[in-house]
Amino acid sequence: MAPPEIVARIERLREQIREHNYRYYVLDAPIISDAEYDALMRELRELEAAYPELITPDSPTQRVGAPPAERFAKVRHREPMLSLANAFSVDDLRAWYERIRRLLGAETAIAFVVEPKIDGLAIAITYEDGRLVLAATRGDGFTGEDVTANVRTVPSVPLALRPPADGRLPRLIEVRGEIYMRIADFERLNEQQAHAGEKVFANPRNAAAGSLRQLDSRITASRPLRFFAYGVGPVEGVTLRSQWETLAYLRELGFPVNPDIRRLEDIEAVIAYCQEWMSRRDQLPYEADGVVVKVDSFAQQRELGVVAREPRWAIAFKFPAREATTRLLDIVVNVGRTGRLNPNAILEPVNIGGVTVSNATLHNEDYIVSRDIRIGDRVIVKRAGDVIPQVVGPIPEVRTGAERPWRMPSACPVCGTPVVRRPGEADTYCPNRACPAQTVRLIEHWVSQGAMDIVGLGERQARLLVERGLIQDVADLYTLTPASFAGIEGYGPKRIQNVLQAIEASKQRPLARLIFALGIPNVGSTLAAKLAEHYRSLDALANASVQELLAIEGIGPHVAESIVAFFADPDNRALIEKLKRVGVRTEAGPEETPRDGPLAGKTLVITGTLAGMTREEAADLIRRAGGKVGSSVTRKTDYLVVGAEPGSAKLEKARQLGIPLLDEQAFLRLVGEQPAEALPRAERTPETMPASDATQADQLRLDV
Ligand code: IVH
Repeated sequence: MAPPEIVARIERLREQIREHNYRYYVLDAPIISDAEYDALMRELRELEAAYPELITPDSPTQRVGAPPAERFAKVRHREPMLSLANAFSVDDLRAWYERIRRLLGAETAIAFVVEPKIDGLAIAITYEDGRLVLAATRGDGFTGEDVTANVRTVPSVPLALRPPADGRLPRLIEVRGEIYMRIADFERLNEQQAHAGEKVFANPRNAAAGSLRQLDSRITASRPLRFFAYGVGPVEGVTLRSQWETLAYLRELGFPVNPDIRRLEDIEAVIAYCQEWMSRRDQLPYEADGVVVKVDSFAQQRELGVVAREPRWAIAFKFPAREATTRLLDIVVNVGRTGRLNPNAILEPVNIGGVTVSNATLHNEDYIVSRDIRIGDRVIVKRAGDVIPQVVGPIPEVRTGAERPWRMPSACPVCGTPVVRRPGEADTYCPNRACPAQTVRLIEHWVSQGAMDIVGLGERQARLLVERGLIQDVADLYTLTPASFAGIEGYGPKRIQNVLQAIEASKQRPLARLIFALGIPNVGSTLAAKLAEHYRSLDALANASVQELLAIEGIGPHVAESIVAFFADPDNRALIEKLKRVGVRTEAGPEETPRDGPLAGKTLVITGTLAGMTREEAADLIRRAGGKVGSSVTRKTDYLVVGAEPGSAKLEKARQLGIPLLDEQAFLRLVGEQPAEALPRAERTPETMPASDATQADQLRLDV
């Protein structure tokens, strides 16, 4: 028999752990450190090991226990798990509202609860006298599968309910909600899976479903699953009158409830909520495919009823799709500016959220092999936000046998040089520096706005100049004459003069832009600015050691090594000498005097379109004035520069944090100068725009 003080201590530890779980998962406000929490768990485990007769199934230590099952038992739901009708537009939403208003009577007030619709899987968890006894998947809505052992491993699912304020636990309650995976956790999991040579998942939903349907709950326990409760099935011993009251009650019992759920009193507010989340969906840590709108009052819900397994009292407002399935017709390889071979998918054109997609990135060889993507496969294609569409994976279930596995070619598809893949790297390269494909990409990058900003030269012109043998590298740009452009379509004397002037002017670009323009692998414009500030000349940077680079904030070993390798390459050394010979400035200019300008120590963020300058030019001005350019508004931001059509998220955040807003004039006054190089906007006519910032297909072929 265990001594009573041990029994009491175990009980106390369990209570404490449950309360800390509640604070962590439900309130999102922990009051102890992870180490302190671990210490409580350790003490409980040790006591339970010494007194195994005191172990109870709802002890916080008992998340993994059952031996692997052979298959899942079927579970008949006591009340069916319904599905939702969809609204694909605001009009659909209004039509739904008009219908329920008619049914409930035009004078009746209707309040709504609106909830992000998370893309995971629905689950029903039954508690008897406060203890978790059963967890079942939705299945067909009537019969699901018993996944109790697996659901027990999800840390945010309570094994025992937390007594509510009145201390009375319900006799029985079936809690319904969504098991899901956060996007960041999903990506990390896929990396681990690929590394271990295991199956990778197409999206967070599949990852969550695949993880929950494991016969061995130890595997489920190792997966980063989460739970949000959004409703109840059968309940005994408590009376709930509305959805809002139910959610508050579920929170009290210890269930995580989505913090973005709101109760709204009219349909206009509901519409605004739907639209707001539609535009902000990329800011959510999880995939949401819509908003669920529910009539709040249970009395009204009963009055409205259910038709054909869909309640009339709820509707799913769907966001535009981001994924679609289509056929992978072919895989072609493009060569990027660093010589990287980029496999691209040629797809049967498919509409994804209103945009037709006919090609998509496949990243690299490992990506294709680890997902077993074959030519001819039906594939899932994803297009999200601003990013290039990507093939996320095949649907192997519908294979016919005619699909063909793909291999990376052994020779560069443009110049025929045997390709190389360095050990430990996923990318394959064409090692030939003179490969015409690389030269064209290098020139495109060199002339682009963030780099040397040579207006009037685009991809097509670059290709022609390379094909004519006039340019072998970017330094050759500075040897072009009017005759070089003879016969190129669209180049009259005036335009030729403009281009040559722009090329000439680019010799004096700030060092930061020159470093960026060189296309050093892993060096973007922000890092280039940092390197320019630190080294003040290209030669000094070229002679930097890995050790020295590592001392600079934000540079890790991978980046440091890639910078040193770039400058160790005799071809790159020769190019730099050639650039100097043709007159490109390789020292920081007097305008690049950091730290002591009017913006010393300040961070500015830019949003919207400025009238008198490009964003890059504005960023140069900020850096020249000693300031830093931030990409998003945070507490550390000192000013937000606001142009036309600013991003609403940045603006709202700045207002929330009380960060001063600057219009263009105020900004120019603050930096204390008119930009020396800024072209008036009007001169950037489409005719003089680099053709490189054109279509998605073009961008696809770049190293991104
Ligand atoms: S309510 C009427 N609320 O959407 C009751 N469902 O088609 C139906 N879902 O499979 C469910 N978030 O997995 C409800 N806040 C939410 C939801 C939600 C996601 C999923 C659920 C179900 C599907 C309904």
